[in-house]
Amino acid sequence: MVNVRPFEVASPKFAQSGSEAIVEAAPVLWMTGLSGSGKTTIAKILAKIVRRAGTACCILDGDELRQGLNKDLSFSDSDRTENVRRVAEVAKSLGSQGILAIVCLISPFHCHRSLARAIIGTGFAEIFVDTPLAVCIERDQKGLYAKAIRGEIDSFTGISSRFDVPDSSQLTLQTTDKTALELAYEIYNKFVAPSITDHP
Ligand SMILES: Nc1ncnc2c1ncn2[C@@H]1O[C@H](COP(=O)(O)OP(=O)(O)OP(=O)(O)O)[C@@H](O)[C@H]1O
Ligand SMILES: [Mg+2]
Repeated sequence: MVNVRPFEVASPKFAQSGSEAIVEAAPVLWMTGLSGSGKTTIAKILAKIVRRAGTACCILDGDELRQGLNKDLSFSDSDRTENVRRVAEVAKSLGSQGILAIVCLISPFHCHRSLARAIIGTGFAEIFVDTPLAVCIERDQKGLYAKAIRGEIDSFTGISSRFDVPDSSQLTLQTTDKTALELAYEIYNKFVAPSITDHP
């Protein structure tokens, strides 16, 4: 198993105290973007790359979590915030145990991303999957945009609920210019590769 540390290691919390004191904390890669922007697609490829490099990782996907941990939550503003809070706490816990967390969550409001950043602290990396709304509507691989446009879904991000364009992301990805594989490697090279240590 290869060990990872946060991509920013300024915090003494994560400092190594000796050659065998393995740094236990890993980055949390927080992918934000519209439904259909490509978060899950890229995350699944990234997870394969990371695991192949011998590093433990875990995808925390909003869709899946809403079927379990967060199934009691609606898409109201307050429940969306609670959704983010719970996912951020789980991601923090994974990161603190050396497991790279890849979060796929629309997290549409500025306050959602700042809440996650505040909970996770050092090691939080915000990645904006910046796919234009028109492209997401055209992809509509879940058929949700069509329903939202027909008024069959309330509070649908991009249609009947706002998406605040991130202004403090560490990385912005354009999915119309590059393949998901290229983008997964972009994330890996920026945040994961520099964090891997060779210590046993
Ligand atoms: N360069 C690309 N990167 C990622 N996805 C792409 C790219 N080009 C096309 N796609 C397609 O866009 C769609 C993205 O869907 P995906 O489920 O990954 O989005 P999502 O952001 O996870 O949405 P949701 O928030 O609804 O879960 C997929 O059908 C994928 O094949
Ligand atoms: Mg998804």
